[in-house]
Amino acid sequence: MERTRNVDLPVLYFGTPVALITTVNPDGSSNISPISSAWALGDRYMLGLGSEGQAYANLQRVGELVINLPSADLAPAVEAIAPTTGRTPVPDEKKASYRHESDKWSLGGLTRVNSQDVLPLRIGECPVQIEARVAQLIEIDGGSAVAVEAEVLRVHAHESILRPQGPDRVDTDKWQPLYYSFRHYFAQGARVGSNFRAPLLDEPAAAMSS
Ligand SMILES: Cc1cc2nc3c(=O)[nH]c(=O)nc-3n(C[C@H](O)[C@H](O)[C@H](O)COP(=O)(O)O)c2cc1C
Repeated sequence: MERTRNVDLPVLYFGTPVALITTVNPDGSSNISPISSAWALGDRYMLGLGSEGQAYANLQRVGELVINLPSADLAPAVEAIAPTTGRTPVPDEKKASYRHESDKWSLGGLTRVNSQDVLPLRIGECPVQIEARVAQLIEIDGGSAVAVEAEVLRVHAHESILRPQGPDRVDTDKWQPLYYSFRHYFAQGARVGSNFRAPLLDEPAAAMSS
């Protein structure tokens, strides 16, 4: 067994997908917040947000959001908006690293697309766009952060990442989601195995749920 030692890691981001959360600003425009604390279970999406960000302020007022999932080639766009916040004035805790930006869409070269069931706009360049509404906002870590339980209402996917036949399934050979690991961006590597419930790769997808 390999030896371990106690370590003091500044971040515990071992590798999670990047999500661009769109929420409604007080003036009705849509803000974009890059996050990586996000996971799904059934029709629920759980998100981790800092309580000082504009995303949380917006969700407290309007409990609707879009979870936009970028591909690896959007890493420069994500990093272009990374040092900004939709919050003004910029909270003291964020002043050292962030500046205010009211139009992250132009900064990232991203395209506004109307949603069907929610007010925040979708990001056209993201191959998956998930419309959702807030089911619960749960304060964590003494109120410095919040866990968002979001109910998925509708999922949009670029046709180019879908299997051409059978029930709706993402073709994992056609999409490279963007991952965040220890503050670096990655595309996924080679397939190293498949779950027993995965659809066969060379046949139309079977009706399987997860
Ligand atoms: C790749 C990436 C991942 C991030 N992950 C999170 C996260 O999971 N939760 C969070 O609150 N902030 C996260 N941040 C920081 C926010 O994007 C940052 O606080 C930003 O200012 C939020 O924008 P807003 O204040 O307009 O909502 C992440 C930033 C980047 C670039």
